[in-house]
Amino acid sequence: MLAIVSLCLVLLVCSWLSRRTRKDAPKGSPPGPKPLPVFGSLHLLGQHDTPFEAFTALSKTYGDIFSISLGTTPCVVVNNFDLIKEVLITKGGDFGGRPDFLRFHKLFGGDRNNSLALCDWSELQKTRRSIARTYCSPRFTSLQFDSVNRVGAEEVNTFLAEIQKLPINTPVDIKPIVLKACANMFTQYMCSTSFSYNDKEFQKIVRYFDEIFWEINQGYAVDFLPWLLPFYHGHMNKLTKWSTEIRQFILSRIIDNHRATLDFNSPPRDFTDALLMHLEEDPNMNWEHIIFELEDFIGGHSAIGNLVMVTLAAIVKYPEVGDSIRKEIDAVTGNMRGPNLFDKAAMPYTESVLWETLRKASSPIVPHVASVDTEICGFSIPKGTMVFINNYELNVGKEYWNKPDEFLPERFLSPAGNVVKPTHFIPFSTGKRTCIGQRLVQCFSFVILATLLQKFDVSGGDDVAARPGCVAVPPDCFKLILTPRNPPVISSD
Ligand code: HEM
Repeated sequence: MLAIVSLCLVLLVCSWLSRRTRKDAPKGSPPGPKPLPVFGSLHLLGQHDTPFEAFTALSKTYGDIFSISLGTTPCVVVNNFDLIKEVLITKGGDFGGRPDFLRFHKLFGGDRNNSLALCDWSELQKTRRSIARTYCSPRFTSLQFDSVNRVGAEEVNTFLAEIQKLPINTPVDIKPIVLKACANMFTQYMCSTSFSYNDKEFQKIVRYFDEIFWEINQGYAVDFLPWLLPFYHGHMNKLTKWSTEIRQFILSRIIDNHRATLDFNSPPRDFTDALLMHLEEDPNMNWEHIIFELEDFIGGHSAIGNLVMVTLAAIVKYPEVGDSIRKEIDAVTGNMRGPNLFDKAAMPYTESVLWETLRKASSPIVPHVASVDTEICGFSIPKGTMVFINNYELNVGKEYWNKPDEFLPERFLSPAGNVVKPTHFIPFSTGKRTCIGQRLVQCFSFVILATLLQKFDVSGGDDVAARPGCVAVPPDCFKLILTPRNPPVISSD
């Protein structure tokens, strides 16, 4: 009897152990479509408007995590919030790398590690992020926040003056003016320098930054099929030209003057001073690091200019959204003054329009790369695997949102009228590589949008549209019709 009971116990323990071992054992690679020789599964992405729609479609067949080869690069796509958190937060240290695209090297002096967004994770990156934090993520009560507000309020006056020179009630190209305003906000805030909108060199550099922003938002076959390079020589040379001229401009028109007037015995006047001072203190940082860091951050203005354009496209499509923003502006300012950043808390609808725009534009997160052999959800992920974070799915999936196809800014408003963002909504990503510029985005896009809509009704033709899942519009994009508003009647209640 004892022998039988013992045998049963042994069998039970063995079966429990084997079940546990099977469950805990690495599951091998995630499932995925069979790749074609040479091209991998690139053809499957081409069947959809955006690669992210293709990822969502493939996840219906292969599950929330699947493998795919792009050219010969092994990739994994993660499609739900838990998996995305595992990659970006729990195992953020294992996925700190970035893709080694040739285009990225061309844009940053031959080495993508010069760029904050396109480099692999390193001690240097930690230092660069920490210098930037005070200036690019200013706290509400900080001196830097006051400075952002002052710079924004001053620049919108110039912006409005330029806009008012345009013909009314006829389609006009406002993107260059929006971009110049954003660029001046950045250079004034970060470098205490701004430029005339008629300055030809400034105009050229703003255009080059915008071309690069559009470029970074595109995928090219050569990223995964480097043997196509001979067909891309012209394109690569263009990237080198744009970035070299931008660097020369920053050196000659911004840094040289700063260096000449830098006072090491006083607190830094701005981000440029902070960078130059750090150079003297930190033997691990060199001159190139400073220039590239400044260039990267100044370049952030293009993202904001494009976001404003995408938001205006939505307002043209849904005029009632523009009307609601105007009501809010009129109620808060009494139409006696322009809106500023301290009004933002009292203008939740306007803020929620920007969030809803970002939800639809859902800028894809730059892919991460495994820097060590690791796992996701028990699947083994070898070092070098490229990981795509399908945040498009988080932003438009039916399981995450009510009526995801509709443009409904109210979805970000609580019953009490406060802005509330669901935790799965991460347009700026999350974890150790999260976007450093997100506060500046929220501040400057708000002030430009509110200023423009206070003064003008915005409309346009059928060509006014933005591509879903893309926060960039082409450098030469749609035109808008601006109609000056009649002074609104402010109700007394
Ligand atoms: C519409 C506006 C913007 C959006 C939607 C956006 C979104 C993002 C996203 C999704 C990432 C990738 C994070 C990751 O890989 O996990 C990122 C990275 C980054 N962003 Fe932004 N961003 C915007 C504007 C800006 C601006 C204005 C700046 C600069 C002032 C900026 C600076 C950066 C930097 C430096 C990184 C790289 C961080 C790192 O890899 O360590 N961004 N951004």
